Amino acid sequence: MTGFTRTVRHGSHDCVVHVGVGLIERLGELTERHRSRFLVVAKPVYELLGASIARALSGIEPIVMADEEREKGLASVDAIVTALLERGARRDATVIVVGGGVAGDTAGFAAAIYLRGVRLVHVPTTLLAQCDSSIGGKVAVNHRLGKNLIGAFHPPAMVISDVSVLQTLPRREILSGTYEALKSGVIGDAALFDLTETQVGAVLERDPQVMLELVSRSVEVKAAIVEMDEREGDQRRLLNYGHTLGHGIETVLDYAGMSHGEAVCWGMIGANAVAVRRRLLDVRVAERISRAALAYSPSPIPPGVDRASILAAVGHDKKFTSSSMVMALAREIGRCEVVEVTASDLEAGADAMLDASAAFRG
Ligand SMILES: NC(=O)c1ccc[n+]([C@@H]2O[C@H](COP(=O)([O-])OP(=O)(O)OC[C@H]3O[C@@H](n4cnc5c(N)ncnc54)[C@H](O)[C@@H]3O)[C@@H](O)[C@H]2O)c1
Repeated sequence: MTGFTRTVRHGSHDCVVHVGVGLIERLGELTERHRSRFLVVAKPVYELLGASIARALSGIEPIVMADEEREKGLASVDAIVTALLERGARRDATVIVVGGGVAGDTAGFAAAIYLRGVRLVHVPTTLLAQCDSSIGGKVAVNHRLGKNLIGAFHPPAMVISDVSVLQTLPRREILSGTYEALKSGVIGDAALFDLTETQVGAVLERDPQVMLELVSRSVEVKAAIVEMDEREGDQRRLLNYGHTLGHGIETVLDYAGMSHGEAVCWGMIGANAVAVRRRLLDVRVAERISRAALAYSPSPIPPGVDRASILAAVGHDKKFTSSSMVMALAREIGRCEVVEVTASDLEAGADAMLDASAAFRG
């Protein structure tokens, strides 16, 4: 495989996704048809890739932004909007954002509201952003009362994912993206699951061919779901597989001490226990998914995170409406379903993931 291109059909317009090796060097040519280009780059990424970006997009002075999760808020959006105004960006502007999911979400939201919306190009530089956050059109920043509460649907015109930039990514960030890819495999692509299951060493070493396939297949799964269901309907809820109980852990930990992907790993194990309990999933398949997930050595759930605190956090999760609780559950590898669950299902799921984590910690 040398590269992958997929056109994602959104209600408002199409988005072309390019996945390949060495695409950063071709940023200029790939975005050439957008005349009025403005570049926003995450600071750590600028330090790593500034020279290549400057070569590819010479003459465009970048807006360099902080990209820590705690800075993903309206103040960062304001700083980007101010820089765009000062540089004279008009309605025909295209904002090109280079960085991980934090940068993509923040600059993406700025593009969504700047002059009521200007064109957006994502150049994701983390595995999670390439596999997941750059696809689908959701952009959001945090409010002090919760994550991603201020946002919009603003699908990009183009996504350019260069897997060679993943070489410098810390291991923890590789895990984060890999768990999202494993999740996508269980939701909709058995071959993607097989890849994450069998290529652990190559994934951790960021083998370009394996990364190319991992990202391309993840993009395909998410794109197909988003095309069926752009907003928050049942199809899109499939993407929450592993995220219900996973978000519970993250909320209890206040998003510190464990990466999002690792929380999703434990969340998938918990969701599978619910699916087995409901006779929707064969226990041997659940065990196979657990083995594949644990092969990447996630951090165990820290002591102090218990069933009661997880369930309290899940009860406040925005995916639950007051009348019903739904969860994405696996039926087999490559097929998930959104199912109404009971409080005792959730208790069993929380217990199962806490037990699995305790056994894993040894
Ligand atoms: N919009 C969506 O649909 C969606 C979906 C999932 C997650 N998200 C959001 O994405 C964010 C998480 O994104 P993320 O996992 O990409 O984290 P991130 O943006 O925080 O990046 C992780 C770290 O990697 C660094 N980094 C980025 N590229 C690098 C590179 N090539 N080499 C070395 N270091 C690099 C960053 O500077 C940062 O320190 C969260 O805020 C989450 O809410 C959004």
